[in-house]
Amino acid sequence: MLWCKTIQLRNHLLDKIERKTGISLLDPKLRPVKLSVVYRLFNPHVPVIICSMYRNNVGAMPANSCSSVSDSPPLVSLALRKGIRTNRILRSSSRFSINWMNFEPESSRRAILDLAKPSDSTNREKDKLSEHNIPYKIVRGVPVLEQVCAFAICNVQKNFATGDHDLFIARVNYVRAISDFTLDEYWRFEDYKPILYVGSIRPNSLITLSS
Ligand SMILES: Cc1cc2nc3c(=O)[nH]c(=O)nc-3n(C[C@H](O)[C@H](O)[C@H](O)COP(=O)(O)O)c2cc1C
Repeated sequence: MLWCKTIQLRNHLLDKIERKTGISLLDPKLRPVKLSVVYRLFNPHVPVIICSMYRNNVGAMPANSCSSVSDSPPLVSLALRKGIRTNRILRSSSRFSINWMNFEPESSRRAILDLAKPSDSTNREKDKLSEHNIPYKIVRGVPVLEQVCAFAICNVQKNFATGDHDLFIARVNYVRAISDFTLDEYWRFEDYKPILYVGSIRPNSLITLSS
């Protein structure tokens, strides 16, 4: 008991010193990180491609922020920077697809890099997928890429302003995946080689798992 109290006291003291001096005595190998780059600590990430369509305006972009937030009902979250074209289209349509790509062929990786290029957010009258020669079909009124290993169609239920992004909570309505997933309902990683985003500073920002 006394031992626990001593440890607690020591930890509180060290925490106080760190807050005052910025020097971590608890573990000096853990260096300070700028708060604005915390999102990079989540790398490597499996980026998905988000597609949305309103009238004839097709928006598409890679996103790292898409994540499952409820199993039943099946809900996902997605954070989109305020003002970007895909955000505007998604707000108007309230529907989007999530597209999981394979590392091969190279055109899948190119699609991620091409779709990361910003659009003129005021120009709604365009089809970003066709502009980049990325083939797609329409499933339940939403564009889905032809080269996917899996896709999900989602309906937006809520959105909140979260700093410089908007957070969308959406219900998943329809999902398809190749047998690499459906056989066990887990990826086997035999045919599916996930794309891993390691950060734009790296010469190869997209890598895959090494076996
Ligand atoms: C791997 C990767 C992940 C990204 N994840 C997000 C994200 O989750 N949310 C976001 O707003 N932008 C994200 N971006 C940036 C957008 O893809 C980028 O701003 C894109 O140009 C938006 O397209 P738009 O201007 O056609 O809407 C990501 C970019 C990359 C390369």
